[in-house]
Amino acid sequence: MDLICLCKGVEKDTIINAIKDGADTFEKVREATGAGTGFCGASRCRARIEALIEDNK
Ligand code: FES
Repeated sequence: MDLICLCKGVEKDTIINAIKDGADTFEKVREATGAGTGFCGASRCRARIEALIEDNK
């Protein structure tokens, strides 16, 4: 298990699935998975989410 968003406990596989379902921006991934909505304000996870979008879209 590889947690990308620690605040919300969102795993890498969950984010990749959302990207493959059409979430091609950080905002869309955030809406689809809740990643990036935690108390850190996405400062911990945003860069990793954006990298996953680049690699999987
Ligand atoms: S780690 Fe994702 S919002 Fe904090």
